[in-house]
Parts: sequence; C-alpha cells; structure tokens
Amino acid sequence: MNDFQLTRTLDEHAAGAALRADVLHGLTRMPKVLPPKWFYDARGSELFEEITRLPEYYPTRAEREILLERAREIAAASGARTLVELGSGSSEKTRHLIEALPALEVYVPVDVSESALAGAARTLLAGHPGLRVHGLLADFTAPLRLPDTPGPRLVVFLGGTIGNLLPAQRAEFLRAVRAMLSPGDALLLGTDLVKEESVLVAAYDDARGVTAEFNRNVLAVIDRELDADFRAADFEHVALWNREEEWIEMRLRARTELTVKIRALDLVVPFGAGEEILTEVSAKFRQEGVREELAAAGLDLVHWWTDAEGRFALSLSVADGPRAADG
Ligand code: AVJ
Repeated sequence: MNDFQLTRTLDEHAAGAALRADVLHGLTRMPKVLPPKWFYDARGSELFEEITRLPEYYPTRAEREILLERAREIAAASGARTLVELGSGSSEKTRHLIEALPALEVYVPVDVSESALAGAARTLLAGHPGLRVHGLLADFTAPLRLPDTPGPRLVVFLGGTIGNLLPAQRAEFLRAVRAMLSPGDALLLGTDLVKEESVLVAAYDDARGVTAEFNRNVLAVIDRELDADFRAADFEHVALWNREEEWIEMRLRARTELTVKIRALDLVVPFGAGEEILTEVSAKFRQEGVREELAAAGLDLVHWWTDAEGRFALSLSVADGPRAADG
C-alpha cells in the first residue's frame, strides 16, 4: 500500500478506561444500560456484517440502492475533493460514491477499528491507484480534528448509525459535524425511516437469531475485558418498538435471579428475574424530524432521497448562513 496514512487519536488504555466507566455507570443504575459501541469487537463486527445480509435486515440493502441510484447526483451536488466517512467500517457501500466522484483526491475513513481502516484502504487503493487514503483511528462521537485536505469536503455518516445516539447526543454530534464544515462542504446522512412495527421488529429479532447473538456479544466483551462472569445463555434477547420515542430498543433480559462478578471493577451486580439491560436504541426518522434536527445544528437540508419502497433516506445538507453568491 503506497498511499495510506494513519492517524491514531485512540489508544488501548483510553478505550479500556472508557469501557470500565461505561460498565460501572451503566450496571449500577436503574434501569441498567450499556452503550452500543461495545458490541463491536472482532466477533461483534463479524456478526454485524452477517446481520446486514439477513432477509429481515433491510436498511443496508435500501441504503445501497439509494447510493447506486443517486451517486451521480450526490457527486454533482458536492463536487468533493475530500470524502470523510464517519464510522466507515468495511467502507463497502462507500465504493459506489468514490467511483462517482470525479474530483476526489483524498478519502478519510474514521473508525475505532484499526483492522477495518487498513482493510478498507487496501481494497480501495487497489481499485483507485490515484487516491490518497488518510485513515483516522478515532471515536466519531468525540470532537474530531480532520487532516488538512483539499475542499470541498463531503462528510458521510451512513447506515443509520445516527439512530444509535440519543436525541441530546445527536444534537451534540450534528453540531460537531457542522463545525467541521467550511462553505461549500456538505454532509450526507443515512437515516432509517419510521414504518410498520412488524417490519421494524423483525429487522432486530431475526428468525436465525443472529441479532440475538450480536446483542449477547456485549456480555462476552465485558467477560473478556473486565474479567467478569456473565453467561450469555442466562439472558434473553428482546427487541421492541417504542412508539412514543419512535425507536427500536434492544435489551438483554435476565432469565432468572442471578449475580454477576466483574473483577476488574471489584463489583457484584445483582439481577432480579426478568430484569433488563438496555443495550441499544435505534431511532427511526421522518423527513421533517431530520430537517429540524439538522436546522438546530446550523445545517440546511438540500436533498432528500429514499429507496423505491420509502424505507430508508439519504439527506444532503450544507452549513447554513448567507453565502457570498446570495449577498
Ligand atoms: C449500526 C445503525 C447500522 O441500529 O440498525 C443492527 C446496528 N443493531 N442490528 C442499527 C444494529 C442491531 C445498526 N446500525
């Protein structure tokens, strides 16, 4: 690989401290809660890739359909010379965009997984010899310093991952993205849309039980990293639609009364029979809500594209405020 550069803003020590703080805080409060980012160790990332291929899990296919259909429009609207992808993972869907951006010089994938960054760079550089790849090993929910690359920039956040943030975290995240944009830059955001409850629940509770295994994987992560004795089989996977909040909730429900020792925290956690840990919310959106959340962060929604069945949306937005051409 000749044109791959990596900037690390994360180290193992900081990640370990963050996990300890999240587990201590989340399992000593009522109701118990764990942040979804701890699903994604090597096994969890593999299970997530498997989820994206399940018949019930439509968001990945719907988003890929929009990207394929609209790549040219997105490219024309952005004119990007730098593409920044937050939470890039395998960068699989981004390929379509890269191929459609004629002026593109630099791709900046941002992810917490070094192996994902290196793998994505390897695949992309093989197909695009002129492209520079500058990976950022970073947590996109923390403030980011982007490398100095040519504008205009297109920042993309795909997969509906913004739905895994709570409303206050989303507002903070969008304000941070707004701060990264200069005039002429744009944000391409993927959002899953509100739809029939049975379709939504099936996407998070598949017949083969892959999502159940993904959900329970967070317990295996805590067992390994914090020397705990969770037994995944003691917990039932629960996926439900919260109609008021318009989000899916994934929970892990203790099948019986039990206690768990977390040795690295010197902590014993009691569970009542049926007691749950909230492990993920996955918010579903409507166009007006997306427009309002963007506007509150100083972003103007200028394009809205959905798949043919109206299941998923990509929006393109730009920093608001007067432009030189208008004044
Ligand atoms: C990370 C947003 C793509 O919320 O749909 C998939 C993660 N959780 N199945 C989502 C997930 C359960 C996923 N995204």
